[in-house]
Amino acid sequence: MRVRDIEKSQRFTTTTVALVTSFYKGKENVMSAEWSIRASIDPFLIAVFVSYERETYEMIRGSGEFGVSYCSQEQAGLAHIAGNYSLKDTDKFSIAKFPLFYGHSIRAPLVDGAISNFECSVENEIQAGDHAIFIGRVLDGYYDNTKKPLIYHQGKFFMMGDRISHINAERP
Ligand SMILES: Cc1cc2nc3c(=O)[nH]c(=O)nc-3n(C[C@H](O)[C@H](O)[C@H](O)COP(=O)(O)O)c2cc1C
Repeated sequence: MRVRDIEKSQRFTTTTVALVTSFYKGKENVMSAEWSIRASIDPFLIAVFVSYERETYEMIRGSGEFGVSYCSQEQAGLAHIAGNYSLKDTDKFSIAKFPLFYGHSIRAPLVDGAISNFECSVENEIQAGDHAIFIGRVLDGYYDNTKKPLIYHQGKFFMMGDRISHINAERP
């Protein structure tokens, strides 16, 4: 049954969860982002949506780069910590052991065990209400075909369900 409610309807979107990483003034950070998506194929661009209140906002703004690690379903615990504690007042890395590794093109770390990782340099920043959209040019990308993505829906984490096999959903 369809319910008309503009407030509650905001929770009825379904996303992946990215760990957005940054490095600025000698500090590393990792924050969770449900709002992050591939924005262009050629050039390969990824957009991340970061509230102006986040420490990550200052760090991406200052450094001009960020990492994106799309969580696998084993990483819900890390996504919870990265998304509920701010580097403004808490050392997230003392609460959870984030398995970081370093890529080739940016100074920000990436998170091991993810389904995919991307190294991005900021091409553009756009204001969208209470969030900044950082459009990042992807300089390097990694994937692990053995992992399955973590899903976020109505404030809770889920695992991906079965494939609907009779429809070929590949884009043209
Ligand atoms: C599952 C999940 C998804 C989130 N998605 C976003 C997001 O897309 N954009 C955003 O600005 N904050 C998002 N947050 C909140 C930030 O991750 C959170 O405020 C974090 O503590 C910011 O850390 P920082 O201040 O160290 O950058 C999310 C939190 C969770 C738990």
